[in-house]
Amino acid sequence: MLDFNTIINNIHNNLKDNVVKGVVASYIPELSKQDVNQFGIYMQHMDGRSFMVGDAEVPFSIQSISKVLSLSKAIAFENNDIWKRVDVEPSGNPFNHLSLLELENGIPRNPLINAGAIVVADILCSKFENPKADFLQFVRDIANDQTIDYNYKVAESERKTGYNNYAAANLLKSFNNLNNNVEDVMDFYFHQCALEMTCSQLAKAFYLFANKGKCINNKQHISSSQAKRINAIMLTCGFYDESGEFAFEVGLPGKSGVGGGIVALLPNHFIISTWCPGLNVKGNSLIGMQALEQFTTQTNLSIF
Ligand code: DON
Repeated sequence: MLDFNTIINNIHNNLKDNVVKGVVASYIPELSKQDVNQFGIYMQHMDGRSFMVGDAEVPFSIQSISKVLSLSKAIAFENNDIWKRVDVEPSGNPFNHLSLLELENGIPRNPLINAGAIVVADILCSKFENPKADFLQFVRDIANDQTIDYNYKVAESERKTGYNNYAAANLLKSFNNLNNNVEDVMDFYFHQCALEMTCSQLAKAFYLFANKGKCINNKQHISSSQAKRINAIMLTCGFYDESGEFAFEVGLPGKSGVGGGIVALLPNHFIISTWCPGLNVKGNSLIGMQALEQFTTQTNLSIF
């Protein structure tokens, strides 16, 4: 039997003193304050065991990881209608790239790049009665943790510097692919990205994707087929123009955020999350990717 505790402790030890840790995101000024040396790993096994090491219980800005949570709620509301407004192809481009959006008539390549997540945010703004409060409640429910909250300073920091995201939203609006006001959708989007969670809370929140749509409390939030599709999108699009590399090195569906978090999962087996704020040039956690590569190599647990 695999000794997950020793495996994740060894990986943490191997990587924690690396001199090359990547660069903390600075385009969102609040995120540039993060300490590049923080590093946590949390693994939630579906047999009920969990393992953690380092800063696994320190809250951080989940950023784009939230796009998977908003997508799952939008799919629960809309089912297949969502695919009329956003595609499911990898973009091969950075997360904030805009030129394809214009070439492709305002239909974002996938729901995990910023433009796609803004369409998803628009859907939630239409469907929820109180979008920010209702989305927060959904996240608290699936993670089984009522203490999760937005970091309002981070949301404000994003809003103040969000010219690229406003450009995406305006382009979407010009192609009739945004139903609500740009300002309302962006307010929701900046808050969802500013959700603050720990590795432990994230692994629990992602339990439903490994468990055919049922959360850690055994409540069905999305269908098994919807969970399968969300995993497929994470695998092909979760790391933007580094999705191929993540599949190649790690071999799990997963999602990254510019706060330095990554969550990945093996359906029916486990969910694993890492946090180390230094990013590589593609905007994904440098040490987090290495940790997950070592984990799937040493355990031989991947979808392939
Ligand atoms: O909209 C943005 O640019 C950020 N709130 C989220 C980007 C992000 O996390 C990209 N992921 N690696």
